[in-house]
Amino acid sequence: MGEAALWDQMSGADRRHAVAVARRVDDALGHPERAVLAAALLHDIGKVDSGMGTPARVVATIVAMVGGQRARSGTGRIGRYLRHPLIGSDLLLGAGSEPVTVAWAAEHHLPERQWTVDPVIARALHAADDD
Ligand SMILES: [Fe+2]
Ligand SMILES: [Fe+2]
Repeated sequence: MGEAALWDQMSGADRRHAVAVARRVDDALGHPERAVLAAALLHDIGKVDSGMGTPARVVATIVAMVGGQRARSGTGRIGRYLRHPLIGSDLLLGAGSEPVTVAWAAEHHLPERQWTVDPVIARALHAADDD
């Protein structure tokens, strides 16, 4: 499944949020490379709950290692929120996305000191993300 097919699975609300983020990033960075806009458009793709086979189990393992297993294993909003970055990065890896697109999905709710994405790009993506 490629990036376009992942996009097709996103809810209307998530797509509207993603397009707004991408527009702000496009303005802030002056028409950045495609992979950066893909990072903006697909950073919340992990909120799509389908396709959770082995990748989701891997994610659950990683999250359990980080801590707070009880909250993170919940099926409600909190658990979903906490898991969606890693679920998303795994989906994007499987879709053949560029490294910056995969990395930003994983990192977009982490503190800046944990980002691996180029700081100029990451700060623009973070500033544009209002959820
Ligand atoms: Fe998010
Ligand atoms: Fe977001």
